[in-house]
Amino acid sequence: MLVVNKKKKLKKTYIPNLYQLRDCFSNGKQYLTKEAKKAFEKMCDDALEDNLYLIAVSTYRSYNYQKRLYKQYVKTKGRKYARLCSAKAGHSEHQTGLAVDIANKTLDYDNFDRTNEFKWVKDNAYKYGFILRYPKDKTMITGYKYEPWHYRFVGFEIAKYIYEKSITLEEYTKMTIQFE
Ligand code: DAL
Ligand code: ZN
Repeated sequence: MLVVNKKKKLKKTYIPNLYQLRDCFSNGKQYLTKEAKKAFEKMCDDALEDNLYLIAVSTYRSYNYQKRLYKQYVKTKGRKYARLCSAKAGHSEHQTGLAVDIANKTLDYDNFDRTNEFKWVKDNAYKYGFILRYPKDKTMITGYKYEPWHYRFVGFEIAKYIYEKSITLEEYTKMTIQFE
């Protein structure tokens, strides 16, 4: 199980094999690993049957891109807040190609939990192998504030276990992170 968090980081050179998502489920060009793409697109297809439209707004991010992103957060929001909502380079799940930020067609991703799409995703994502990675009230465990839009592909069995127990990947892997 690949775990990336405040404790475990990826090398600068780590780049997974990536596959581009179908345009209809992407904002710009978006890439995930083969398995995660397949699962994500199946989830999007099934959501559409309920008239819910999911799109990926951020997926794979390179080490250097994450570095710029984190710096930008520090600059605009200050270091303390940046640490709560953005990972430092090497520490972002987005570098694994297994994480996807989801929005619907009309609202920005940070309003995702106000949408019907979110209501559906939060209770169905596990069926496709995805978990809500940074749940509400788990900041002391994950190190990040609530992110209703960020899902991590872990595979069906693990996702189901984590969903049913309402735990995080840190709890599942019995990892404790040093909270800064
Ligand atoms: N927003 C998440 C924590 C990231 O930057 O990977
Ligand atoms: Zn994310």
